[in-house]
Amino acid sequence: MEPRPDAALIALEAIADGGFAESEAVVEGDAESLILHRDGDAVRAWLNVCPHAGRRLDWAPGQFLKSREGLLVCAAHGASFELVQGECVAGPCRGEALRSVPVEVRDGYVWLAG
Ligand code: FES
Repeated sequence: MEPRPDAALIALEAIADGGFAESEAVVEGDAESLILHRDGDAVRAWLNVCPHAGRRLDWAPGQFLKSREGLLVCAAHGASFELVQGECVAGPCRGEALRSVPVEVRDGYVWLAG
């Protein structure tokens, strides 16, 4: 496989379908960690910042927890998020949401959109 283009976040095939990955990106001028979630050929992204206490959601870089119900679970205190809107549906920040970051899939890679 070709080396990843500099501006791409990650290769689509590097994310398991239904799974997660983490990538660093500059969003609105700030270096941020992103949660990337693959759903078939689509990828959604959110800032890797939990609305509960501002912690990262992964327990080690790029290692995210997914519940049996298919929710993303914050490793810090167990807030659970659905994977379309990034809304917290259970746990200490119920009703709040992850901040979504627009991304697109092009040429087999995931890019910041726009
Ligand atoms: S920081 Fe995520 S549940 Fe507390």
